[in-house]
Amino acid sequence: MAIKPVLRMGSPVLASPSKQVHDFSKSILLPIIRDMLDTMKDEGGIGIAAPQIGCNMRLIMFGFDESERYPGEEAIPFTVLINPEIEILSQQITEDWEGCLSVPGMRGLVPRYDEIRYRGQDEKGQWIERSVSGFHARVVQHECDHLDGILYPERIKNLKKFGFEEELKHLIWPEDL
Ligand code: NI
Repeated sequence: MAIKPVLRMGSPVLASPSKQVHDFSKSILLPIIRDMLDTMKDEGGIGIAAPQIGCNMRLIMFGFDESERYPGEEAIPFTVLINPEIEILSQQITEDWEGCLSVPGMRGLVPRYDEIRYRGQDEKGQWIERSVSGFHARVVQHECDHLDGILYPERIKNLKKFGFEEELKHLIWPEDL
């Protein structure tokens, strides 16, 4: 389909809650899903939410085998998730570095729940339910935040741990030095 421009932090679309999907017609969903996939791949992302390409639907996708943006992280199966819901399974919270295609060139240290269960439907309307932890749980929380109009910088506790990836790389990937 097409690579779309990714909306950036400051766009009102990214700050607004997205709408529940009721119509699962292929003619509506598939073009958007293809555009999201093409855009995510072009940008080297591991997840994307529909509002990032200007579509205010509760639709996210994520997954990767190996990622240059997140080296060393365990693979996540490629997943399309519509109307996702998250249940927190443990109050344990961990901080780790995140980036976002809508906040290009930046990284921040973001607290997320360690263990969640998520549930939603794929593009065929089939239900997906998984209990996950670690990076997988982090990615899903990040993408679901987009559907509520929240970007990761809003979650950062210490803004000294927010900045340009180039400047922060000694903190993000210390083992590489
Ligand atoms: Ni994002």
